[in-house]
Amino acid sequence: MMVARTVGIDDIATYVPRLYLDATDFAKERGIPPEKITKGIGIEKMSIPDAHEDAATMAAMAALKLMQKNDLQPKDIGFIHVATETGLDEAKPISCYVQGMLEQIYGNGSFEHIGAPETKFACVGATYAMIDRLAFINSGWNKGKHAIVIATDIAKYDLLSSGESTQGAAAVALLLKEDPRLMMYEPDSRGFGTRDDQDFFRPVGRTTAVVNGHYSVGCYLRDMRIAADAFRKNMLSSGIVSLSAGEGMIDHVDRIAFHSPFPKMVEMAFASFLIHDWRGLPRWKRIIEQTGPEPDRTGMSDIDFYVSEPYKQFRKKFTKTPEFTAEFEKKVKDSLEALKLIGNSYTASLWMCVESSFEVKTNDLAGKRFAVGSYGSGSSAIVCSFIVQPDYRQVVDSFSLMQDLSRRNKISVAEYEDLHEERLDPHQGIDAPRNEFVLDRLGETETDFGYRYYTFVK
Ligand code: CAA
Repeated sequence: MMVARTVGIDDIATYVPRLYLDATDFAKERGIPPEKITKGIGIEKMSIPDAHEDAATMAAMAALKLMQKNDLQPKDIGFIHVATETGLDEAKPISCYVQGMLEQIYGNGSFEHIGAPETKFACVGATYAMIDRLAFINSGWNKGKHAIVIATDIAKYDLLSSGESTQGAAAVALLLKEDPRLMMYEPDSRGFGTRDDQDFFRPVGRTTAVVNGHYSVGCYLRDMRIAADAFRKNMLSSGIVSLSAGEGMIDHVDRIAFHSPFPKMVEMAFASFLIHDWRGLPRWKRIIEQTGPEPDRTGMSDIDFYVSEPYKQFRKKFTKTPEFTAEFEKKVKDSLEALKLIGNSYTASLWMCVESSFEVKTNDLAGKRFAVGSYGSGSSAIVCSFIVQPDYRQVVDSFSLMQDLSRRNKISVAEYEDLHEERLDPHQGIDAPRNEFVLDRLGETETDFGYRYYTFVK
């Protein structure tokens, strides 16, 4: 018999490379007005991995931080589950490389009892991994052991392409368990929205993504709308929420974080979310008095509509209304503070934004509903929610993301280009490694060709 358990996220640890590229330096070098990036897109700095770093070292660093700050031992962990779209091998998962690195600290074979899968679905992969692991814990099959889900990615586009200004890198490790201290998952809330689409992908052998930039924004908004509709339906049919006259779903959500390729995208996503939620409510009259009527969409597909000039102009006017501004500042803005300084980190970006939201906001969130909107190209969105737990402050007090971001080193555009084009040997990076896992070498013989050897540098 299945016993109802309280499961969710107990703690979060984020790792961000120590190097960053300043957006203004980058824009000047490319001949782009800096305000286009700092204001139009909303990015001030992009984190750039050094030559000895990759998606596996970043993942191992986030996992080690999570283990150490919670005093966890390998026996406490049942799964290390990695989600990434920066896969390093077509067969071996990053999770096993992470296991090997952690065993350099905790002892050879110390994690041999774990399950260690890898999930891929562009930027939404970690949210799928989280739901899988939480369901496993909820079933009781975990026998008391915790799961670590790690989102790790390097967002990388071709030099001189329009995607170049939306790069970045980070890894986030989530500790999942019964009776979590941070956020309890609301399983009946989750809404999915999935379409077979081609907005963004990375064919085998390429290190940079192929992207149809403006179309990808339309896909994001379409799938998020489908998932938000499913979330709303699930919240109402399961009785978690009942709406009084004049209320929208957002009135029952206290905080929300989105998949965040860049801050402006989140503003667009939240605006579309509210327009959809408020249309038909009494407050809509006040809105359209300020914006004018919503454009007609007869005969248009969702994507054609979302990327059309009249809808963009309408959404822009909507974001200037005091009603939008109040909701955005209260529920979303703090999640973007770290993002501005990191850039996109694909699977990790949503969860990094959740950490940022908790770290920046100091008012009491205990008992409040925290929703997330996750999106991955290709394409799929998930909207689901959590309840912030009474003792969450204990956990948040140990977050140090903003402090970590203030201790990084700026690199020049020339150094960035060397790293981007992989011109540097792992032993000849920009910043000498210390207290971290590094890529030591790649195998060169018939039986280890391309195998990745990692070591911990004190
Ligand atoms: N001062 C201030 N703002 C300026 C400006 C200036 N001098 N010049 C331009 N801007 C504004 C523009 O008006 C625009 O703002 P609005 O959208 O509010 O009008 C903004 O800067 C961006 O300008 P463009 O649209 O002209 O920029 P672009 O053509 O270079 O493309 C992009 C932007 C599509 C995001 C591109 O960087 C890209 O392709 N990025 C990668 C794909 C991506 O991130 N897609 C997001 C959705 S998909 C997803 O979320 C999955 C994922 O992680 C990839």
